[in-house]
Amino acid sequence: QMLKVYVTRRIPQEGMKLLQKAGICNLSVWDSDEPVPRAELLKGVAGAHGLLCLLSDKIDAEVLDAAGPNLKVISTLSVGFDHLAIDEIKKRGIRVGYTPDVLTDATAELTVALLLTTCRRLPEGVEEVKNGGWSTWKPLWLCSYGLSGSTVGVIGLGRIGLAIARRLKPFGVKRLLYTGRQPKPQAQEVDGEYVPLDTLVRESDFVVVSCSLTPDTQGLCDKTFFSKMKKTSVFINTSRGAVVNQEDLFGALSSGQIAAAGLDVTTPEPLPTDHPLLSLKNCVVLPHIGSATYSTRGVMSELTANNLLAGLTGSEMPSELKL
Ligand code: GLV
Ligand code: GLV
Repeated sequence: QMLKVYVTRRIPQEGMKLLQKAGICNLSVWDSDEPVPRAELLKGVAGAHGLLCLLSDKIDAEVLDAAGPNLKVISTLSVGFDHLAIDEIKKRGIRVGYTPDVLTDATAELTVALLLTTCRRLPEGVEEVKNGGWSTWKPLWLCSYGLSGSTVGVIGLGRIGLAIARRLKPFGVKRLLYTGRQPKPQAQEVDGEYVPLDTLVRESDFVVVSCSLTPDTQGLCDKTFFSKMKKTSVFINTSRGAVVNQEDLFGALSSGQIAAAGLDVTTPEPLPTDHPLLSLKNCVVLPHIGSATYSTRGVMSELTANNLLAGLTGSEMPSELKL
């Protein structure tokens, strides 16, 4: 008997090929680049043994109930899993696969790119070249803050946070501070100093958010947080938008409380084009592209398929989330 698998989006072909080749599942695919409407998802998932989803799909009790008792495995094409109602999933004995490690390099690279883009004011410069605002070489024009001699603070020195730190160090970073639940032995490699959050926020020239979204980190970067940052400092977030109170960030950026911000993640995604943050020259917003290299997305697709297949056959997953 073939097992039913529901796939919530068109995904890179690498993973689809693996699912087809395995020959154990009937694939039902929302074959679009746009998210599946909620009503379609609830209908499509009915009776499924496996669910392959994206970070933009909210998988809660309603979806799990709509799927019914067949559902054995949820495999998400992401390292983040804040879109999954873990308690409900655990209660039902469903296994979860995700994609750590394979996107670490791409995401760290994007974070460094965003940091340099933001702190050196590249979008403003590009705009001035195009609109005729560049009249001549000027000693005091488009000046900004560089990495050399700076203090960088990484909130969450996990796989991605460490990869970011490794890449930033060679730019002449003087001190590398980090926070998290506990000190990490891996931090030695980047001479990382484990400090209280308050110290990190007050002393860093660059604050980089690289933690996962949990009840503890939700809204962590708020008015109080930004009020402790240096006026010359730059804020970068490539984890999840909800770690930041965006109204408070807007206040900090527009009042000059901090120098600039670079965000690869927001709430909601996408931001409405008339959102106040998008009106600011000192705020660079990207469309959640941390892992978006061809090769990384291909490998993520494969890993997501292999996690799903392992879940369906009751074997060991390449990357299972410990619930
Ligand atoms: C991207 O944000 C991911 O969680 O993979
Ligand atoms: C800049 O181009 C310089 O020559 O200082």
